[in-house]
Amino acid sequence: MARILITSALPYINGVKHLGNLAGSMLPADVYARFCRAAGHEVLFICATDEHGTPAELAAIEAGQTAAQYCDEQHDIQKRVGAGFSLSFDWFGRSSNRPNRELTQHFADVLEDNGLIDERTSKQVYSVDDKRFLPDRYVEGTCPNCGYEKARGDQCDNCGTLLDPIQLINPYSSVSGSRNVEIRDTRHLYLLQSKLQDDVRAFVDARAADWPNLTTSIAYKWLDEGLIDRSITRDLSWGVPVTRNGAPRPGFENKVFYVWFDAPVEYIGSTVEWAEANSGNWERWWRTDKGADDVTYVQFMGKDNVAFHTVSFPVTILGSKEPWKLVDKLKAFNWLNWYGGKFSTSQKRGVFMDQALELLPGDYWRWYLTANAPESSDTAFTWEAFKACINSDLNDVLGNFVNRVTKYAAAKFDGKVPEGGEPGGHEAWMANELATRLPQLIAHYEAMEFRKAAAETRAIWAAGNEYITKAAPWTAYKTSVDQAAVGIRTGLNLVALFGIIAQPIIPETAKKILDALGVPEGNRSLDLSKTGVAGYPALLDALPRGMVINVPPQLFTKIEDTQVAEWTAKFGGG
Ligand code: 2FM
Ligand code: ZN
Repeated sequence: MARILITSALPYINGVKHLGNLAGSMLPADVYARFCRAAGHEVLFICATDEHGTPAELAAIEAGQTAAQYCDEQHDIQKRVGAGFSLSFDWFGRSSNRPNRELTQHFADVLEDNGLIDERTSKQVYSVDDKRFLPDRYVEGTCPNCGYEKARGDQCDNCGTLLDPIQLINPYSSVSGSRNVEIRDTRHLYLLQSKLQDDVRAFVDARAADWPNLTTSIAYKWLDEGLIDRSITRDLSWGVPVTRNGAPRPGFENKVFYVWFDAPVEYIGSTVEWAEANSGNWERWWRTDKGADDVTYVQFMGKDNVAFHTVSFPVTILGSKEPWKLVDKLKAFNWLNWYGGKFSTSQKRGVFMDQALELLPGDYWRWYLTANAPESSDTAFTWEAFKACINSDLNDVLGNFVNRVTKYAAAKFDGKVPEGGEPGGHEAWMANELATRLPQLIAHYEAMEFRKAAAETRAIWAAGNEYITKAAPWTAYKTSVDQAAVGIRTGLNLVALFGIIAQPIIPETAKKILDALGVPEGNRSLDLSKTGVAGYPALLDALPRGMVINVPPQLFTKIEDTQVAEWTAKFGGG
């Protein structure tokens, strides 16, 4: 049994996330956490809302609320929506909570003690009418790179260039629209990343062999370009206050730490929240001097977050010179697009998590988004592909099999696992399929290849369909009840197995199947060596013969063309 710490990139607080956010971090992290638990490992799965920075402040202004009120409300909404998708976080924390505040201030203190933080004067856009500096997204203007007129201070949405607000041409305040702005001097703390270039490279080198290409290519690109010192404070009021050794830092009373400085620290902060609420021991997961040296730490995120996790956050950790746990495996995702374009929170394009749950249960989305995960390249969501995938994989392949076999057992074998007959050639064929496919399935999960894991799951379900067509117990029944009994008994055992392997991706459906068949919790393990059966043939005779089973409730309904038309009209696409 291994100890595995899993974190998903923390969703921004500024509104319910879209399906692209779900598919690129929270969902695969959950699928992996569920797999690891089912395989018998000790798992701690942590997430939180990322509540600071200009996106949070601006969204609060738009909602007519204080930032604190807005975050309280949105955190609850995101938590509820996450539960609707069966995201099994051990803790869903908040970056604005006390543990993160204290930890962030602690890291700033030790980094400064280690000579890695400097106070510097920099130039920033100041709005005379708003009487404030305009950091990051508070200022908009024309992109110096592509000429797009609504580029944001931190990044141009049109060409993707990362910007410093003072680079914008014709800048204006995004709060008031005022163009009465000027460039003024302001003091900020700078993290001297350049001094840690060699340490970060050594850290990346030591892990590169275990990281997918997408991760290493981004990390090395940043390292090869050379790490530059970056400001870690902002002229904002909502955020972690800037302190020095516990007291407000003179001259920084109206400033806070930059959101990307405090957000990753919340992985630790959220674990502290979990520990405080559950009498848990957070240090056992995070401090290598307190037992975390045998933890494997796995992070999940979209590709835009990779640099922050392979370079910036490691700078904080390594620069502290304290024994904190660093990431071991980092799984990054490409974009899930909405048809040809991007999902967009600010432009409200695509389907958002709360809307998705109003259309269909979480498992439908979980299946589609895992089977089509943007792992090796960007992928596009379309209603047509979604319908085809759900109707074929979940309805035809899984749902029908479960339905036919359990109903036949109910009708012809008194709702019991049939006792008669002995296995023959068809059962041997099926056992052989499982002997090849089950280890492949496990290997895909261990390698965090989720599309392949979904494809192999589907292939196992499909093999079961092929088996039952060959064994044809409904035909056999007319001439030999014993022969039909073997087919239905094997079929019921396949139903149980299909439920067991479905657990990581479609947990609610898996539970319905396994509960109906009365498979005890202890027998739902994905650790094949410990399922209590000797080898794969025995898996086909694992349910006690003569045991009463129930027909599960209807698992899925097909998506109709009329629904696709309705959803396309409502959400766009095409
Ligand atoms: O890109 C995002 O959505 C960020 N909120 C991710 C933060 S991940 C971690 F560092 F907090
Ligand atoms: Zn641009």
